[in-house]
Amino acid sequence: MDEFRVKVNNGEKIIRCRAGANLREVLLSEGIELGVCGGRGVCGKCSVKTDASGELTDAEKNQQAKGRLEDGQRLACQVDVQGDISVELEGHLEGVNTFKAVCREITSLTSDIRLFRFEVEGEPLDYRPGQYVLLTVPAYECSERPVTRTFSIASDPADKSQFELIIRQTPNGLCTKYLFEHLKEGEVIEFEGPEGDFGLTQSSRPAVMIAGGSGMSSIRNLLFEMKNAGDERPATYFFGAETEDDIYMLDEMREFEKTIPNFKFVPVIHHPSDSWHGQTGLVTDALKQRCSNLSSCEAFLCGSPGMINASIDVLKSLGVSGQNIYYDSFG
Ligand SMILES: Cc1cc2nc3c(=O)[nH]c(=O)nc-3n(C[C@H](O)[C@H](O)[C@H](O)COP(=O)(O)OP(=O)(O)OC[C@H]3O[C@@H](n4cnc5c(N)ncnc54)[C@H](O)[C@@H]3O)c2cc1C
Ligand code: FES
Repeated sequence: MDEFRVKVNNGEKIIRCRAGANLREVLLSEGIELGVCGGRGVCGKCSVKTDASGELTDAEKNQQAKGRLEDGQRLACQVDVQGDISVELEGHLEGVNTFKAVCREITSLTSDIRLFRFEVEGEPLDYRPGQYVLLTVPAYECSERPVTRTFSIASDPADKSQFELIIRQTPNGLCTKYLFEHLKEGEVIEFEGPEGDFGLTQSSRPAVMIAGGSGMSSIRNLLFEMKNAGDERPATYFFGAETEDDIYMLDEMREFEKTIPNFKFVPVIHHPSDSWHGQTGLVTDALKQRCSNLSSCEAFLCGSPGMINASIDVLKSLGVSGQNIYYDSFG
């Protein structure tokens, strides 16, 4: 089988690899760890300057559209090495702040979702509502390296000396297994950030908010922002769950209905019990049943790629312009 050379930082390091090897994995084999989404093309954090040939993938075009990938850059996780190539890594994480925070509270919200509250060591965390942090768990029995993953901030931005994360345990997930089975209150954890460009706009257009599972995190952060600002824009939040047991923070959402002037919370249950009298089906069904023309609206979505993609299709069919749809996909 053909073997190629990856020249890193002008020859500082030469790595040999087989033809077709994934560039991120080639770099990882030499201890150069890039990206925080496990190579799925969503975090945009494995960008490198390279002369590797090949078409940009859809994931790269998406990052380019968000201004996160410059000309001459590729996402290492999207590149298959098909010849000798050069890679420039310098400046990769420029501008990212690293800090530590103490875990102060772990609360179960559903069978697989927990709230984690962290108190920041040192200066408060200066973030915009809707942004996320990059959390690093230490090496442990399931991972010989520390694992970094992205989590949206869920708490009230009025108090930036602490922040809450709402996290779903991913089956066989390296980071969430540590958080759910090893992390103890009082333990200090490392973070980077804040990062991300998701968030409310300054517009007064009616807002449609959509989330499912741990996607509650970012939307909750935005709801606190609306409450604190006395924001009067009409806002309806569709939250999708499989059963009533998967709904959480219902009391808090009902409280937001009282404290945010024009806010409505609509929990949507896919498989309801006989005693459920609210909205049923998927969030996309709820949108179709309750809305006819959303052309004046902006939409804000958080959660799994499947839910986001399906919801975007329905939002567009109901008249929401693509440029008025904002989302953070957790996939
Ligand atoms: C912008 C953003 C914000 C986010 N915010 C949140 C949030 O607020 N709350 C939240 O819960 N999550 C959030 N996420 C998702 C989060 O970052 C993690 O992706 C998620 O928690 C899983 O991490 P993990 O390390 O536990 O799982 P991973 O170890 O990454 O595994 C994920 C899945 O992939 C599989 N897998 C892993 N490696 C491979 C491989 N090599 N080949 C095939 N399959 C593999 C695993 O079996 C598992 O099923 C967010 C993601 C993004 C991009
Ligand atoms: S590792 Fe996240 S985009 Fe490549």
